[in-house]
Amino acid sequence: MNPLSMTASTADGSILVTFEDGQRATFSSYWLRDNCHCARCRHAGNGQKLYQITDLPAALSVRTLSAAKATLLEVVWSDGHLSSYAAGWLADHQLGATARHARQVKPVLWDQGIAADMPVASWPALLADPAQELAWLERYTELGFGLLKQVPITPGAVAEVGDRLGFVRITNYGRLFDVQSVPNPTNLAYTAVGLAVHSDNPYRNPSPGVQLLHCLEAGAPGGDTLLVDGFAAAELLRQQDPAAFELLRTVPMNFRYSDAQTDLRARQTLISTDADDLLKAVHFNNRSADWLDAPAEVAEAWYQAYRQFAQLLLRDELQLVFRLAPGDCVVMQNDRTLHGRTAFDPNLGRRHLQGCYIDRDAMESRRLVLSRTHHLA
Ligand SMILES: [Fe+2]
Ligand SMILES: [Zn+2]
Repeated sequence: MNPLSMTASTADGSILVTFEDGQRATFSSYWLRDNCHCARCRHAGNGQKLYQITDLPAALSVRTLSAAKATLLEVVWSDGHLSSYAAGWLADHQLGATARHARQVKPVLWDQGIAADMPVASWPALLADPAQELAWLERYTELGFGLLKQVPITPGAVAEVGDRLGFVRITNYGRLFDVQSVPNPTNLAYTAVGLAVHSDNPYRNPSPGVQLLHCLEAGAPGGDTLLVDGFAAAELLRQQDPAAFELLRTVPMNFRYSDAQTDLRARQTLISTDADDLLKAVHFNNRSADWLDAPAEVAEAWYQAYRQFAQLLLRDELQLVFRLAPGDCVVMQNDRTLHGRTAFDPNLGRRHLQGCYIDRDAMESRRLVLSRTHHLA
């Protein structure tokens, strides 16, 4: 934002700023003082705070205030400390409802119509061009999934992609896992049956943030990929039955995975929202749902809500169906974009995917770092 000019005054312990465009913003004294960026308050090199909150006086008020330079608000506090704030910074950090709402990052909900405008990119092109990488990451962030083409068709390539987009998370399955039909499978994923859409590993704490699935072989008839925007389904539930949405948002269920060496358990709600009521996560996995440890009088209504949500996920218009070709890698926000597959016939051809997990924050960091220097048109 360009520097603005402003005038400022104090009122009831708060500071009232009026920007040149007429917008007015109120800031509390303590909030402003804790956002002082002077060299005594913040390290000049890394921006980290140099004081503890308890180092500030319990009561703080404005001794003098000046916006004489019009683009810089200067405050001398009751303890004599001088702070200054640029008008552009204040404008970017307004705390009114409209400004706070405008700053929220809202997901772009999708349904099967996204097939006409897939968030797709060529992997070699992303490696060569940070601007293309950023463009793909921006769409991934909005939609909760993206497709990469021309990833080398070599075993292990998926982990290299994971380590470029973030850091591969090693689990009891190893650094990566193979999804193919095997005898005596430990997981239904390693059979040829169809899999209803789900999020992976809700029995982990935290659940994987991002899942990558890379296709090495796709010779078997069937085995098409299904994706559903769990946030779109959750919003539909919120509209059609707010009480059901509330049950799935507030009553946690138990998830579990166990084999000879492993016993993983997590307890979480199917739907999570943040403090602003925006959807934060959807965890849905019928195979690893353990049991509902909730009061008996809640259980019946919760099951009706659970069933209703599962029914929504089966709606044709919500299901994006496409076929991964060798070299394709689908990248999914695991706690939003639910994935599944149609059944395949392992007697008529081979189907082999490799997958890995990475954390969301590392991928988000990659996008933010790229956006410092590469601006989208
Ligand atoms: Fe899965
Ligand atoms: Zn300071």
